[in-house]
Amino acid sequence: MKKVFAILTIILCFGVTAAFAVDGGEVYQKRCAKCHRDGSESSKAGGDVVLKGQSAQEIEMKLTGYVDGTYGGAKKKVMERMAKGLSGDELKAVSAYIGSL
Ligand code: HEC
Repeated sequence: MKKVFAILTIILCFGVTAAFAVDGGEVYQKRCAKCHRDGSESSKAGGDVVLKGQSAQEIEMKLTGYVDGTYGGAKKKVMERMAKGLSGDELKAVSAYIGSL
């Protein structure tokens, strides 16, 4: 009986982890691509920034900076709202995705 519980616990843990795992590419397509296109350019609304070529650490640092007000240019208000709307997991996942472009 104990074994059954152990196995059930393991299955449950993996299931929960999978449910919380965030797909950075999906977050990007849904929330960022409108302004930042495929990352190699941005629309006017995207402030003409190029995300492609920046490392995951750089992106994560900048997004965190937008959240706490320590990073940003003339249009930082736009990104402050975007960055604050991301959960910690989403922020990490989308940074990793951009870093892989
Ligand atoms: C409504 C348009 C818009 C959307 C949507 C948007 N951004 Fe931005 N993004 C901007 C603008 C405008 C800037 C320039 C802000 C500034 O002046 O600091 C910017 C800047 C950035 C920068 C800083 C680039 C640099 O090198 O300084 C990063 C990183 C970034 N965006 C990531 C994202 C991510 C990730 C998402 C999706 C979660 C996202 N953006 C969604 C408009 C947008």
